[in-house]
Amino acid sequence: MRRAIELASRAPSVHNSQPWRWYLGERSVHLYADLRRWLPATDHDGRDLMLSCGAVLHHLRIALAASGVGATVRRMPNPDEPDHLAAVELRSGRAPGADLGLASAISTRRTDRRSYHDWPVPEAFLAELTSAAAAQGATLRVIGDTRAHNQVMHAIREAAKAQSEISGYDTELALWTGRDASPDGIPTANLPANPGGVAAGRRFRPGELADHSAGTDRARLLVLGATSDDPLSQLRAGEALSAVLLSATESGLATCPLSQPLEIGTTRRYLRDAVLGGTLSPQLIIRVGWAPSGPPPPATPRRAPADTIEDLPR
Ligand SMILES: Cc1cc2nc3c(=O)[nH]c(=O)nc-3n(C[C@H](O)[C@H](O)[C@H](O)COP(=O)(O)O)c2cc1C
Repeated sequence: MRRAIELASRAPSVHNSQPWRWYLGERSVHLYADLRRWLPATDHDGRDLMLSCGAVLHHLRIALAASGVGATVRRMPNPDEPDHLAAVELRSGRAPGADLGLASAISTRRTDRRSYHDWPVPEAFLAELTSAAAAQGATLRVIGDTRAHNQVMHAIREAAKAQSEISGYDTELALWTGRDASPDGIPTANLPANPGGVAAGRRFRPGELADHSAGTDRARLLVLGATSDDPLSQLRAGEALSAVLLSATESGLATCPLSQPLEIGTTRRYLRDAVLGGTLSPQLIIRVGWAPSGPPPPATPRRAPADTIEDLPR
């Protein structure tokens, strides 16, 4: 179980904050939100925190299944304890539907903030990602036309402007990025040398990642949506995020989550109405495409298992 948790901890999280902790029982593992790692100026609603925890929960399900362990998941098992996000009970017998391809994608997936290649992403691959999200109860809307693409980019720019006025936002960004000797946060090696590139909305400090892409960036934008916006729907959307990212990685695609326009109420409502037809609650944007030539970004660090796992009191 400890090894499965260690693998699951490779999950993406906002600013690599890893806002989770685990309690181990005899035949169960419990996922809790670690509210000390919440970024209130960036993530006022706590959506990014819940998405991050949903992603680590799905990573755990994949890691357990790949090691042949069956599990039953109860989400938000105790209404009196809202930060107890999931109780995972281990079952004897083999796990059905182990997906070794997805499990091995856990170690190779990276958030890639460079410009992508000018090869188009085949529609069949995008359809697979849509099914991966649907299997987790979420909807993935592929942005298909220039108008909708421009609307998403507009929302990203407007959110960046709004965030520049939020007290504490720049401090959180500075505290969690460009750190190199830390087990959390985003290292300089994972940030583009030219911060004005495609991931320009978030004003990261200049990093070390060279951007060699010479052609047009043919990345596609995907909007992950849920039927409602309560914490349980956000947790499940995080599980869908993980399924989409791992499935894209398995197909050889590069990915980058973009959460800025969902962090600001006005731009989130704009995306809901302009891009999702007012019917779904947008949770996250995902940029997907073929990575440019050159080595992929290095793996980001993670906290030691001993810092995140405790035994349940007997
Ligand atoms: C909910 C969520 C929101 C994120 N938002 C952004 C974002 O706006 N911009 C960005 O470049 N990366 C974003 N990321 C990616 C994280 O920074 C990344 O997962 C983390 O630094 C760990 O690196 P890794 O994904 O390469 O393992 C987000 C990730 C999650 C789960």
